[in-house]
Amino acid sequence: MTIESLFPTEVYHAPLKGRGADTLRAQLLRECRQLRRDDPAGRRWSNLNYPGGYTSYASANRMHTVSPTFADLERRLAPHVRRFVKALELDLTRRTLEMTDCWVNIMPPGVVHGLHLHPLSTLSGTFYVQTPRGSPGLKLEDPRLDRMMAAPPRRRDAARASRPWVLLPVEAGQLVLFESWLRHEVAPNGARSERVSVSFNYSWF
Ligand code: NI
Repeated sequence: MTIESLFPTEVYHAPLKGRGADTLRAQLLRECRQLRRDDPAGRRWSNLNYPGGYTSYASANRMHTVSPTFADLERRLAPHVRRFVKALELDLTRRTLEMTDCWVNIMPPGVVHGLHLHPLSTLSGTFYVQTPRGSPGLKLEDPRLDRMMAAPPRRRDAARASRPWVLLPVEAGQLVLFESWLRHEVAPNGARSERVSVSFNYSWF
């Protein structure tokens, strides 16, 4: 008897290491907060679409092209992206994978980031800049969930790989990568201070 595990959903996480990684994170934090001050269009968009929080998703969303600090982040992410592409066995012959978007997310206490995916992209991910104690993790949803019409629920003690949702704890200095079709959300920030992250998309050309 054989039971195969097919069509896996791969999620990559790793610490961002290397010389100056802590300095980079501190500088990113300063720039994230500065951007919120300098970006009225982003604050207006966030008021409508990200109540209580700030995101530069719709205003300053190519930060890797305008800030050397974010460009440094892009450079340090590159080997991780290469490893993930290899693990996914993506065939990128004669094509390149490029960072297309890179934006800031600031979640003050109580702010939620609803369920979503990242259309028009290949890989997406987040680098965690500040995660005070009590910060919510990244909740990932089984991409087949909308087809499970008469499926019984999973046992409470089901293995992580069999669960319909998986909560990935997040920690400052860590990065997460996943395929852009994977739906995810962030529960209300239960910490006493701001949860700050930088998210990004990669597309193939
Ligand atoms: Ni997202």
